[in-house]
Amino acid sequence: MTVQAKNNANQERFKSFNIVVFGGDGDLSIRKILPAIFHRDLDGQLDIPNNVIAISRKEPNIKTFHQKLIPFLQESDHHKYSQEEIEKFLKKLVLLKAESPSVQAYQELKSFLNQYPERQNIYYFSTPSSAFGPITQTLKDCGLVNQNSKVVLEKPLGHSLASSNEINAEITQAFEEHQIYRIDHYLGKETVQNLMVLRFANNLFERAWNAENIESVQITVAESLGVEKRASYYDQSGALLDMVQNHLLQLLCLVAMEPPVALEADEVRNEKLKVLKALRPLNKKSVLKDTVKGQYTRGFSESAQVKSYLEDIEKYDSKTETFVAIKTYVDNWRWKGVPFMLRTGKRMIKRYSEIVINFREVKHNIFPSKEKLNNNKLIIRLQPEERIELIQMTKIPGPGGYRYKPIALKLDYTDSFKERFPDAYERLIVDVIRGNQTLFMRQDELQAAWTWIESITTSWKAANMQNVLYEAGTWGPGDDILEEGESWITKTWGE
Ligand code: BG6
Repeated sequence: MTVQAKNNANQERFKSFNIVVFGGDGDLSIRKILPAIFHRDLDGQLDIPNNVIAISRKEPNIKTFHQKLIPFLQESDHHKYSQEEIEKFLKKLVLLKAESPSVQAYQELKSFLNQYPERQNIYYFSTPSSAFGPITQTLKDCGLVNQNSKVVLEKPLGHSLASSNEINAEITQAFEEHQIYRIDHYLGKETVQNLMVLRFANNLFERAWNAENIESVQITVAESLGVEKRASYYDQSGALLDMVQNHLLQLLCLVAMEPPVALEADEVRNEKLKVLKALRPLNKKSVLKDTVKGQYTRGFSESAQVKSYLEDIEKYDSKTETFVAIKTYVDNWRWKGVPFMLRTGKRMIKRYSEIVINFREVKHNIFPSKEKLNNNKLIIRLQPEERIELIQMTKIPGPGGYRYKPIALKLDYTDSFKERFPDAYERLIVDVIRGNQTLFMRQDELQAAWTWIESITTSWKAANMQNVLYEAGTWGPGDDILEEGESWITKTWGE
């Protein structure tokens, strides 16, 4: 038994399953999906026989496939796994070729799955969404969908409300809502899930979690990488659709939602839906003031010179934004008037994601110096470190009267939890097998998110909003949405 397996010997085991990954030899599958299954299997949680099937559109050369996959199994989490562990897993993987979805092309898959009628079939669509409809239809025509089947959908689920509804209509030809798992990997991150525990398992914060006590909420997801090998996908999406429509909005929901009555899928999703519906739509006038879109130019990343976005994608007239910042409001009782400031971008100064809850100033300063008292801040750092900090004013020791400064009370996850942190995909894939939809988006949530996003895309168009250029390796043009007295609270002191 590996150390990992010993640590998790009491892990829950699941009903037997087949997991079929369409786009199985694609980048996401190789980097994230298959390594996640490998880890869960190592933990003894899945104990899988030969039931992980990767579907490739190209000739299935198992050797090349293994060569691509092994480095991601070998070094995930900076931990090297033994040759034996890896080979054991590779033997369980089946690679099948299906050039395009058709009953004929799926014959081999059908014969394979039909050998195990007792297993639940999980279909993981890691392909462009244009293939979702044809794959679904073919699975249905092959008789491969029943009440025990599930489907996992990778984003992007459309590029607008209408196209997202179209995709949904195609999927629901064969699957019911309780069988559909729309994945947002941010919801599988440990620190993101900890937000629920922080808010709803601690009395301290919940009491102050409202407009009366909170001045602003800021969410930053900064990436130092550029678009890498995803130029054609990214250029059609941009930062708004690639990151805000899903990840940042989900983070916002977890910060802003009311306590659900129980930690059950529909209870949590009902509360998130209410937040999405309360988001104030933007219009032609407000986008000019409350949003900024940007595109990176040449600059530096980790001291190396990097190309501009246009050079990266080799398309010199692209107007796609690689950065976006938005100020928005959740128009409900709890959050009246509190700005929620979101920003995300590629080729920013560093990989750095955090949520800042910026509390209001004390009502009256009793101290003689009248020196400014900093607001308390709760900082939830999602990456690269996983940490929570509470910034509080503290007296500077000494006899010279009352002098004070902000000091952070820190909870560093790695100090308190020594175990390996599972990747977000591990948690989410296990939830699919287990049938727990809490961390997956429901269709009405998705529609509400699209409705709000469309208020921005249509207003950008109407206002002829242009990109602000920013140098790679900087914080980007987020300051453009700030008003007097506002700033991005990026806590970098003491690091
Ligand atoms: C993906 C986006 O959903 O999230 C990528 O498509 C982005 O563009 C990635 O790089 C960021 O995820 P993480 O987990 O590295 O923050």
